[in-house]
Amino acid sequence: MTRILHFTDAHLRWNQPGSAANPLRLSRTMPDALTRLADRITEIKPDVVVMTGDLLDVPDDVLAGAPADGRPLDEWRAEIEADFQIFRDWFDAIGVPGLAVPGNHDDVGTFRRVFDDPPMVADIAGMRFISFWDELGPDRQPRRTGARRNLYDSALIAAEHDLPQVHLQHYMIDPPITSRGWQYEYRGAADMKDAMENSGRVRAVLSGHYHPGSLATGPGGLIHSLPPAFCEAPHPFRVYNIEETGAIDVRNFILSD
Ligand SMILES: [Fe+2]
Repeated sequence: MTRILHFTDAHLRWNQPGSAANPLRLSRTMPDALTRLADRITEIKPDVVVMTGDLLDVPDDVLAGAPADGRPLDEWRAEIEADFQIFRDWFDAIGVPGLAVPGNHDDVGTFRRVFDDPPMVADIAGMRFISFWDELGPDRQPRRTGARRNLYDSALIAAEHDLPQVHLQHYMIDPPITSRGWQYEYRGAADMKDAMENSGRVRAVLSGHYHPGSLATGPGGLIHSLPPAFCEAPHPFRVYNIEETGAIDVRNFILSD
């Protein structure tokens, strides 16, 4: 049995000033919430902890290279690095392997540096974890293209990847959702979903991005799981127990209970 603890969308700001524009996103309480989550990890004893993006809440204007507060970009960059370092130190201290992928509110270059250019494929507790650092297109719909698409295609058919898999990405494949005029699921999501089902290899597709969360189980038992955003009270997270048979038990947790 493999036990995975999954949380997503922390939107942390600590060294960076201010908080997320949406007041429900409790950016400044996240360092404290991480400390409390570490205690739960000690109790729950997962084999691996995964975080599917938006570790930080970097403002859009800063990501675009033009901070609206007029401060130099280098100052923001130093604060972003220090905020990622909070996560890096946390992952280093939890006592079990951890995996994270960047989201659209993270600065990918700084993320890559602070996390030492992590591998996209990791074998943990009998499963192959594959990380997809996908991006939004100009229309804000997520896309899996280029090297990431090649990795995905190969994961589903190549002999070297013939292992039970868990896929990690910030964006979701299922369910298809339109919100605020944007498509939240990948371009070509329905075909991706079918290909993963047909491969017989993928057990769980773990994502974030859509803060209300979702859980869907396909006909072959493959789950598409997005826990509700960790940054919003009561700070939810999920635990999956995956049996060798492929059977999956999903449990919902909250920090404040
Ligand atoms: Fe988010």
